[in-house]
Amino acid sequence: MNIGVIGTGYVGLVQGVILAEFGMNVTCMDVIEEKIQKLRGGELPIYEPGLKEILNKNVEAKRLSFTTDIKETTENSDVIFIAVGTPSKEDGSADLQYILQVAKDIANNMNGYKVIVNKSTVPVGTGNLVERTIREILNEREVNFTFDVVSNPEFLREGKAVRDCLTPDRVVIGTKSEKAKEIMKSVYDVLYLNQTPFVFTNMETAEMIKYASNAFLAVKISYINEIALLSEQVGANVQEIAKAMGMDGRISPKFLHAGPGYGGSCFPKDTLAIADIGRKHGEEMMVIEAAIKANKKQKQKMVDKIIKTMGNEEGLQGKIIGILGLSFKPETDDMREAPSIDIIEGLVMAGAKIQAYCPEGIKEAKWRLRKVEKSIKYMDDEYEAAKEADGIVIVTEWHQFRGMDLQRIKSNMRDNYFFDLRNIYTQRKNAIKDFNYIGVGN
Ligand code: NAD
Ligand code: UGA
Repeated sequence: MNIGVIGTGYVGLVQGVILAEFGMNVTCMDVIEEKIQKLRGGELPIYEPGLKEILNKNVEAKRLSFTTDIKETTENSDVIFIAVGTPSKEDGSADLQYILQVAKDIANNMNGYKVIVNKSTVPVGTGNLVERTIREILNEREVNFTFDVVSNPEFLREGKAVRDCLTPDRVVIGTKSEKAKEIMKSVYDVLYLNQTPFVFTNMETAEMIKYASNAFLAVKISYINEIALLSEQVGANVQEIAKAMGMDGRISPKFLHAGPGYGGSCFPKDTLAIADIGRKHGEEMMVIEAAIKANKKQKQKMVDKIIKTMGNEEGLQGKIIGILGLSFKPETDDMREAPSIDIIEGLVMAGAKIQAYCPEGIKEAKWRLRKVEKSIKYMDDEYEAAKEADGIVIVTEWHQFRGMDLQRIKSNMRDNYFFDLRNIYTQRKNAIKDFNYIGVGN
């Protein structure tokens, strides 16, 4: 089967590569020429572990190609995935301009029956809107090709995207068309035969499943973060609390790690979007609204804690702080809504100079933190970031920060404040004994 994937970002690229691995003939299309050129040269435009090897293998097998040509992609594909961005607008609602542009582009180039699959995260009703948009253009073109729109939300996590797509917990397919349903079963033949759970439903439910899942995880994180803040006040330990809570099968230990607040391209935007959908439909999403508020507070609390612990009447004037980890989570270069941005901006506002290091996030960080660029130096590794610093802050728990030579870190520093916003050293009392060590929720 010939598959077109429109939008070659974190989702589209991984999806395209994995579908090629499943034996489909895949064309990945994007409007960014530079991205496509890189991919044609075997270079990844993003950092995603394990992706490059599968990509190269499938390019060599001639099952995977890259283009900027929407006409060729539409004409040659039986199934077309839309995987473009749906960022937040000023009011929190999802910006559908990219999705609708793709719908128009497909309609203008359609040459026969197509299944159009929406992989992007979109508000309820978007599938119908895509359908109407395509139909209008086909009418204008005075052609009557048939087509079906399917909602097939994506649940991959950055940094683990390859594994998540090869062995997903579930595949959700929303469509009213039996024909499209059968075609989607063949697209995911490998997963279907491997007993991956499939949920077949209508488009509206599929669209809601995605927001409901992301918002639930965001609420779970905000919940444990709030418990962490209270634990600090009452002398309790949030890691032990989370461990004991997680032993209850109904709760599960996953997504109960307290930290500096959730970030990334999805939880922040999707919680805002579902809250907006709620308002538009007269149902206030009170729990989700609270999670959004708590997440904002959590990031500010991290800044307050650092200022309170190592500052003086002049705030952090004259202090040097080493920041370890900039990307919103480990194993990605993605800096969208990373907690490091708010934390660094807060520390700079209080007068600090920053020495930042991240294995993959620096390139993105440079422009996202341009507002405070005069106060930031980007360093080559964690030891450089600690040099002459009064304090260090682990913001993102990259593996290499778990096994640091703490003696070396300490000997490089001017003072000994160690803020571990991911609690990776909390249990290792001996290793941190020479530091003024502060975790989260303990
Ligand atoms: P992204 O910004 O990394 O990629 C989007 C790509 O679409 C870009 O390369 C852009 O150039 C391209 N594009 C925009 N308009 C286009 C057009 N008209 N024609 C062709 N290409 C076009 O975004 P992403 O992170 O991959 O997210 C895509 C969608 O998937 C979003 O709705 C997101 O919420 C959802 N999602 C993301 C993740 C994730 O981990 N990033 C996981 C699940 C779902
Ligand atoms: C998340 C979801 O986990 C995916 O299922 C979903 O497909 C994706 O959003 C999406 O829709 O884009 P992702 O954003 O890649 O994936 O990363 P997560 O691992 O979920 O982490 C999100 C944020 O929550 C990170 O900032 C992370 O540090 C934070 N987090 C996560 C915590 O603070 N504590 C936890 O216990 C777990």
